[in-house]
Amino acid sequence: MPHRVVQWTTGNVGRRSLRAIVANPELELVGCYAWSEDKAGCDAGALAGIPDTGVVATRAIEDLIALEPDCISYNPMWPDVDELVRFLDAGINVAATAAFITGHALGEEARQRIEAACQRGQSSIVGSGMNPGFANLLGLVSAGICDRIDCISVLESVDSTGYNSPETELPIGYGRPPTDTALPDMIRQGTAVFGDAVIMMADALHVEVDEIVCESGWAVATKPLDLGYMQIEEGCVAGIEASWQGRIDGRKAIDLKVRWRKGQDLEPDWPLEHGYLVEIEGQPCVKTRLEIRPPPDFQAKSFEDFMQLGMIITSLPAVNAIPAICKAAPGIRTYADLPLITGAGFVRSSYIPERDSK
Ligand SMILES: NC(=O)c1ccc[n+]([C@@H]2O[C@H](COP(=O)([O-])OP(=O)(O)OC[C@H]3O[C@@H](n4cnc5c(N)ncnc54)[C@H](OP(=O)(O)O)[C@@H]3O)[C@@H](O)[C@H]2O)c1
Repeated sequence: MPHRVVQWTTGNVGRRSLRAIVANPELELVGCYAWSEDKAGCDAGALAGIPDTGVVATRAIEDLIALEPDCISYNPMWPDVDELVRFLDAGINVAATAAFITGHALGEEARQRIEAACQRGQSSIVGSGMNPGFANLLGLVSAGICDRIDCISVLESVDSTGYNSPETELPIGYGRPPTDTALPDMIRQGTAVFGDAVIMMADALHVEVDEIVCESGWAVATKPLDLGYMQIEEGCVAGIEASWQGRIDGRKAIDLKVRWRKGQDLEPDWPLEHGYLVEIEGQPCVKTRLEIRPPPDFQAKSFEDFMQLGMIITSLPAVNAIPAICKAAPGIRTYADLPLITGAGFVRSSYIPERDSK
C-alpha cells in the first residue's frame, strides 16, 4: 500500500515535493494545503506544473487532518509549532524541509511540545533538505572510512541568485549596509537550524560537543543589483557566509559552512565551489564533492529553470524519508536513527510530463 501524503504548500520546494509524490508509486497524494487564498480550489497538479491530479488544494486544515494521511510533506515558509503539534497529536507523521532538524533552533519549550505531541499521537517527525539535511548525511557517510576523525566540515558554496524567497532571505541580512551591527545576529538567527545539524551529526557520531558557535561574514555588491524579487543597493550586503562549529575541548570537531552569493559583482569576490564539499581531517583525510548537473533532456529556458535542480535536491531528501518516518518509533527522528534512505520509487522508465508539454 502506498503511503498517503498531504503536501503542505506549493512554493519553490513544495512544488517539487508534490511532483515527486505524484511520480513515486510508493506514495499517494491525498491532499494539498494552500497558504495563498488564490491557490485554494486549484488542482494540486496545476500548482506544481504537472497534469491535474484530482486533488484540490484547500486552506481548511481540519479537512486535511480528517483525511488521516500517513504523512504531511511539510514545506511552508516557516515552521509553525502549533500546526506541527496539531498534526503529530492527530497521529500524522511529518517530513519537513522547513528549518527543522532536531527542533532545538525553535527553542527548548517548542521542541518539547513537539516531542510530547509525537508521544501522544504515536507519530514522528523528520526534517531534512539538501543543507541542512542530505549534506550532513554525506559528511557522516564519508567519515565512515576513517579510523581517526579530527574534524568533519561540510561546505555549501553556491550562487543563489535564482532562489526567489525574499521573506526567508532578507531576515538573514541581504541588502543591509555592511556596517549594520545587527548583521552577526541576523545571520546567526537566520541560519540557526545549522546548529541543529551540528547536534544531529554529533549524535550520529556518538559524541557530545561542548559548545556550538556561529562565525559569520558578508560581502557587498559593487553595483546596484535588481533581482526582481529583491533589490540590493551598491555597497550593501549581497553575499553571506556562516560557519556553525561544534567544538570539543576547544577545537572544531564539526564545521558546517555556507557561502551564498548573489550576482557577479561582489567585494570580496568570493570564489565558489558550485556545490557541496565534505572535508574530513583525520586518517585518512577525505574530500567528497557533490556536484549537480541537469540531465541531457533538461529543458531550461531561463536561469530560474536551472534553480529547479536546487529545489529538487532540497525536496527529495524529505520526500524520500516519508516511508522511513511512517515506520519510525514515535518522536523527533533524524538521520542518526533512521534506516538507509534511498531514491526508492524513482527508478523508472517514464516521467510525468510538464503540464505545458501535454
Ligand atoms: N534544508 C534545505 O536545504 C532548504 C533549502 C531551501 C529551503 N528550505 C526551507 O524549505 C521551506 C520552503 O522553502 P521555499 O523556498 O519553498 O519557500 P517559499 O516558496 O518562499 O514559501 C513557501 C510557501 O509559504 C507560503 N507563503 C508565502 N508567503 C508567505 C508568508 N508571508 N507567510 C507565510 N507563508 C507564506 C506559500 O504557500 P502556498 O504555496 O500554499 O501559497 C509559499 O509557497 C522553507 O522553510 C525554507 O527555509 C530548506
